[in-house]
Amino acid sequence: MASEGKITIQLMLAVGGAVLGSLQFGYNTGVINAPQKVIEEFYNQTWLSRYEKYITPGTLVTLWSLSVSIFSVGGMLGSFSVGLFVNRFGRRNSMLMSNSLAFLAAILMGFSKMAGSFEMLILGRFIVGIYSGLSTGFVPMYVGEVSPTALRGALGTLHQLGVVVGILIAQIFGIDLIMGTESLWPLLLGFTFIPSLIQCILLPFAPESPRFLLINRNEENKAKSVLKKLRGTTDVSRDLQEMKEESRQMLQEKKVTILELFLLPS
Ligand SMILES: *[C@@H]1O[C@H](CO)[C@@H](O)[C@H](O)[C@H]1NC(C)=O
Repeated sequence: MASEGKITIQLMLAVGGAVLGSLQFGYNTGVINAPQKVIEEFYNQTWLSRYEKYITPGTLVTLWSLSVSIFSVGGMLGSFSVGLFVNRFGRRNSMLMSNSLAFLAAILMGFSKMAGSFEMLILGRFIVGIYSGLSTGFVPMYVGEVSPTALRGALGTLHQLGVVVGILIAQIFGIDLIMGTESLWPLLLGFTFIPSLIQCILLPFAPESPRFLLINRNEENKAKSVLKKLRGTTDVSRDLQEMKEESRQMLQEKKVTILELFLLPS
């Protein structure tokens, strides 16, 4: 019982590594607002050099709206795809894999100015949107599954905290005194590769979710050894019992799809 709510190094590593994904979501939500004027100017100049005339206000509004909102379209796509990854590759590996999207997006957005292509920026926003949508599924799931019951609520709030801290960082970096300038905005958008890089360094040392190992993979011994490290104790029978009980109950419940959710009168 002494293990109840103990914060071990492994647990800190797992939770800390995971919430970098929440930070990313927040960062990319906030980052586009502050440098709007300088990026619009870039669109205008790009248009001028391509078509030898200034962009019309209408086209500029359209392109800008697209750049902002396509993030949400990607986000929706990403959040619908969470299930395709987590049960196949595991929670931790899904997070690691999804970082390739963040790297790709960082390259596209970071080099869009150099390449004179707003299409790259828009595509990058779409891709980082997919990544963010995936993250909002992966992170709370993983954090919930590695945390002991007593700490699940407290550690669960770190996802939201990560999101708002990400927004704050983006807003601060984005002011025109720091990186919201004509020359530095590509760096501001490309910075999204940093949390991903740190996550790629940390997460390989964090364990896979014990719940995934036990229930999806049926590898009880692995789940046990992961739990022992996470809890810092040798007796993990209660945790195992809890998970088995939970999965047994889940099997009896009928799965509700998103479509059914909208169609059910109740
Ligand atoms: C594009 O840039 C030119 C020159 O700076 C400016 O006069 C024009 O208003 C800009 N167009 C838009 C739609 O902002």
